Amino acid sequence: MYQAKSFDHLRGLAGISDGQIAEHLELYAGYVKQVNELTKELAEMDNEKKTSGKDFGLAEATRRLSFEYDGMVLHEYYFSNLKPGSAPRPSDRQPCGRALAQAYGSIERWQENFKTLAGMRGVGWVILFQDPVTGGLSNYWVSLHQDGIPARCQPILVMDVWEHAFMRDYRASERLKYVDAFFKNVDWTAVDRRFNEEQRSSAAA
Ligand SMILES: [Fe+2]
Repeated sequence: MYQAKSFDHLRGLAGISDGQIAEHLELYAGYVKQVNELTKELAEMDNEKKTSGKDFGLAEATRRLSFEYDGMVLHEYYFSNLKPGSAPRPSDRQPCGRALAQAYGSIERWQENFKTLAGMRGVGWVILFQDPVTGGLSNYWVSLHQDGIPARCQPILVMDVWEHAFMRDYRASERLKYVDAFFKNVDWTAVDRRFNEEQRSSAAA
């Protein structure tokens, strides 16, 4: 059983209203509930041993579980990499800032690429991932919640670009305004912590 985490530190973000966050947190709690329910339903189906791979209910619930599960986890990454009163970019004295400059030529170029991906059509996420094998950093587009996640990689910075993330504050056509607002609220210390944890665990492996 998973419990919805609380993110009380998110009041007073720049350009993302408290009402928008409250609505988004409710939606996140829905993912947690769905994960718990689907897990229970799938276990019951398995216990009854009446199912086969051709069973529509089993197939649908199994596919839905990865959608709901990744929806739950990505929202937790998203809310925990936001905080009020942040700098628009990491400093080049921070480990993640240095690594981004190395990977993309400069921190600005990395950020431009991240924002460009945010303009892609469709709903999903823009995520900076770190590959533990090379330590390398790359921006990815993830459709829905579960489609396009690079296996093995660790999410370092996660941005939700579903309309529900911003449509209380902005119009559907104003996604890039929300993206600019997002970058007024990134907790670079949290981003650095994820980056460092990944560096440590790959060094230990
Ligand atoms: Fe969301």
